[in-house]
Amino acid sequence: LLGGGKRLRPVLAWQSCVAAGGAGEDSLPAGAAVELVHAFSLVHDDLPSMDDDDLRRGKPTLHIHAGEAMAILAGDAMLAMAFGLLRERASPALAAALVRELADATMRMISGQVYDTLGGFPVGPSEAQRLELVHVNKTGALIRAGCRMGVLCGGGAATALDAATRYAESLGLMFQIVDDLLDVEGTPEQTGKRTRKDRDAGKLTYPGLLGVEGSRHEIQRLLGEAVAAVEPLGPRAEALRELARMMAERRH
Ligand code: IPE
Ligand code: IPE
Ligand code: MG
Ligand code: MG
Ligand code: MG
Repeated sequence: LLGGGKRLRPVLAWQSCVAAGGAGEDSLPAGAAVELVHAFSLVHDDLPSMDDDDLRRGKPTLHIHAGEAMAILAGDAMLAMAFGLLRERASPALAAALVRELADATMRMISGQVYDTLGGFPVGPSEAQRLELVHVNKTGALIRAGCRMGVLCGGGAATALDAATRYAESLGLMFQIVDDLLDVEGTPEQTGKRTRKDRDAGKLTYPGLLGVEGSRHEIQRLLGEAVAAVEPLGPRAEALRELARMMAERRH
């Protein structure tokens, strides 16, 4: 939890708070909460019964370092801590709204992980639609929650919440496509985690379905959507637009 990572979700909460007209500091408990749920999801994602990974954020994964039982329990603890934080600096009404956002997103993340583990949603007319649903849930949901919680902390109007939600939905899907591409094209030195694992594990991925070029095209399309979604919020949302561009090009 404290050993690195991009901290994307707290940064999104901060910048969404700013885009909504608030002070970034007011998003800190919500940003920390979403990062805690994210870290919990990574610790459990790496377990032998899930992706069975031994490297995360450039270090041995928690179950390698501390044993499987402690990794499971640490994940459980991070989830509880996340919800414990949400009352800080929040009125009862805001705290209730934040808890609802994070609980819904956590459930969606877990459902995405279930279907990622089972090999795709059992329903859905096409493989592409099933793949999108897995990605939108396992990764998109917490990114969306980070943005929406930031807007709520900033006291944003419904229009700001709507714009940030559409931004986050495009960004979240784009982010996991980049993650899939890095698994194919990246190195452990760059990414801080093992690469070239998804195909052998039989994962449903964008490069697997669309190829590398098709995935790059989809990343650019989603980047355009994300940038356009927060255009109505004007200069205050420039950092969100810049973040989306950085995440489309990231190498780690
Ligand atoms: C990795 O997330 C897992 C996915 C949801 C794709 P990040 O790429 O945000 O990981 P950290 O937080 O920087 O380690
Ligand atoms: C991660 O997907 C999604 C969650 C942890 C919820 P991946 O399994 O592709 O993430 P990495 O590549 O291990 O970071
Ligand atoms: Mg996984
Ligand atoms: Mg994984
Ligand atoms: Mg991955």
